[in-house]
Amino acid sequence: MEKSIVILGSINYDIVSAVERLPLKGETVHSYGFDVFTGGKGANQAAQIALLGMRSVFVGQVGGDAQGENVLAGIRAKGVDASFARVSPGEKTGCALITVAPDGSNTLAHAPGANHRIPKDLVDSAAGSIRQAEIFITQNEINQDALSYGLALAREGGVRTLLNPAPAIPLPDVIFAMLDYIAPNEVESEIYTGISRQGKSPEAWRRENAEWFLERGVGNVCLTLGAEGAYFFNGKEERYVPAFPITAVDTTAAGDSFIGGFAFGIAGGWPVEKCLVFANACGAVSAETKGAQNSIGDYKRISAFLEDRDAGGF
Ligand code: RIB
Repeated sequence: MEKSIVILGSINYDIVSAVERLPLKGETVHSYGFDVFTGGKGANQAAQIALLGMRSVFVGQVGGDAQGENVLAGIRAKGVDASFARVSPGEKTGCALITVAPDGSNTLAHAPGANHRIPKDLVDSAAGSIRQAEIFITQNEINQDALSYGLALAREGGVRTLLNPAPAIPLPDVIFAMLDYIAPNEVESEIYTGISRQGKSPEAWRRENAEWFLERGVGNVCLTLGAEGAYFFNGKEERYVPAFPITAVDTTAAGDSFIGGFAFGIAGGWPVEKCLVFANACGAVSAETKGAQNSIGDYKRISAFLEDRDAGGF
């Protein structure tokens, strides 16, 4: 049977303003202009997986507005199976207001709208696809009852689960215990664990952060470290892979591309180190391009990026 990944997650439109620098509290800064892109962590991760050539099934919800139609058209155009994406007429489609500085760093305010009202029966409607999947992925941009229901369905079906805990909102221990993989970035990890970098070597910080999640029942921890690369630990195997040096233009969706690439490798049965190298390349390609979903590369582009850096073999 064809391998597939199911993503239960958020789908948004992103209003992205290119600013001279990120504003401080109460400050107005100059913007060079703005664009509207399709985005949402769940939709971006689904798009990355589909663009790599694996069957990618998205489960989520948009509002009954024009933006809802646009963002659904956006993921379909990337090859995502959106049969379980629902339009909820009384809701608004999720929207992210993003500012991007010249060095590619950003700030983001997310109005979840329909993403926060995913009903149980929508998740149930995708139960057959979830049970057949190699991996079930979700993120914190949706309502927690839907997230935990989806995780439980996947676990009952023996399907591996991956949570991207973004944004870093409080999670009960019962959710950590349902995770085969967790993939936070360094800021999110520090919020959960309370283990700060101050006074620690990077090696000790990474290991202690990962151990915090493992102690709560998570099977495998993958920390995305931006320009520093990625780290993996599961109590037995430990790997650190540095990032590819690039000139970042816009890091929006780079983390989502990383997660899509990492899940693609895991679903394909690759060794962890190969998954991390490939995922780093997916994130780097996205960060080199302006925008969210539109910045995500397909398999051809990712392999060309890897070959250019003598990291072929994919
Ligand atoms: O991770 C980037 C995404 O986060 C953006 O596309 C935005 O929609 C927010 O969900």
